[in-house]
Amino acid sequence: MSLFKKETVARKLPRHIAIIMDGNGRWAKKRSMPRSAGHVAGAKTFKNIARYCNKIGLEYLTVYAFSTENWKRPKDEVESIMNLLRDYLKDAENFKSDNIRVKFIGNLEPLADDIKELIKKDEDGSKDATGLNLNIAINYGGRDEITNAVKQIVKSGISAEDITEQTISDNLFTANMPDPDFIIRPSGEYRLSNYLIWQSAYAEYWFSDVLWPDFKPKHLEKAIDDFNHRNRRFGGV
Ligand code: IPE
Ligand code: IPE
Ligand code: MG
Repeated sequence: MSLFKKETVARKLPRHIAIIMDGNGRWAKKRSMPRSAGHVAGAKTFKNIARYCNKIGLEYLTVYAFSTENWKRPKDEVESIMNLLRDYLKDAENFKSDNIRVKFIGNLEPLADDIKELIKKDEDGSKDATGLNLNIAINYGGRDEITNAVKQIVKSGISAEDITEQTISDNLFTANMPDPDFIIRPSGEYRLSNYLIWQSAYAEYWFSDVLWPDFKPKHLEKAIDDFNHRNRRFGGV
C-alpha cells in the first residue's frame, strides 16, 4: 500500500516542492560514461518524479534544470542538455494525458528559436490541466530574476514608498504561486546555487547523497516524512 494512503491521517504534503536536480555528471563518471549520459538518465528521473508528484496530489513542483551559471560548461555539454530539452519538449504530448500544467521559468530569451517555440506550445497546450503545476527552471538564476524584477518595477513607474515585499514577489517568475516550502538537493552538495533565493526565505531544506539519476519515489517519500517532523515557527514561538 502506498504510504500516501495514510496521508490524510498522519502526513501533510508540502504545497510546493523545489528540487535541485544535481549529480548527473558524477553518476556518469562512476560508470565511466560521458557526462551527457548522466543528463539522459537525469531526464528520465525527472519524468518519473514529476509523475509521482502528480499522482500523490502535490500542487507545485519546481525543478532546476539549467542555471544562468551553467553556460560556463563545455560547449558540447551545454549542447547535449539543450538537445535533451528539445527531446523532452517534442515528447510533451506524453505529459498531457497526466493532466500536468507546465511552465518554464528563467530568462528564456537566449534559447534557440525552435526551443522557444516548443516551450510556448507546451505551455499553451497544458494550460488548462488541473493536476500538478510543474515549473521547469531553464537559464534560471535567483539574482537574475530579482534584477529583472527590479527593472520591471522601476519601469512601471511605481513610487518608492509604495513598493512592498509583495511588489517584488509579483514581479518574479513565480508570481501568483505559493513560495516553495520544501527544497530538496540530492548529490551531497549543501548549497542553493542561486536557486529561488527570494522565495526560499522560509523553506525547509532536505539534502541527500543520492545522485539525481538514482533518485526514486522512495527518497521523496522519506523526504516528505522528514518534512512532517519539522517544526516551522516563522519567527514565532
Ligand atoms: C545537474 O547535474 C545537471 C545540471 C546542472 C544541468 P550536474 O551536471 O551538475 O552533475 P555533477 O554535479 O557534475 O555531478
Ligand atoms: C545547480 O547545479 C544547477 C542545476 C541543478 C540545474 P550545479 O551543479 O550547476 O551547481 P554547483 O555548480 O555545484 O553550485
Ligand atoms: Mg552539479
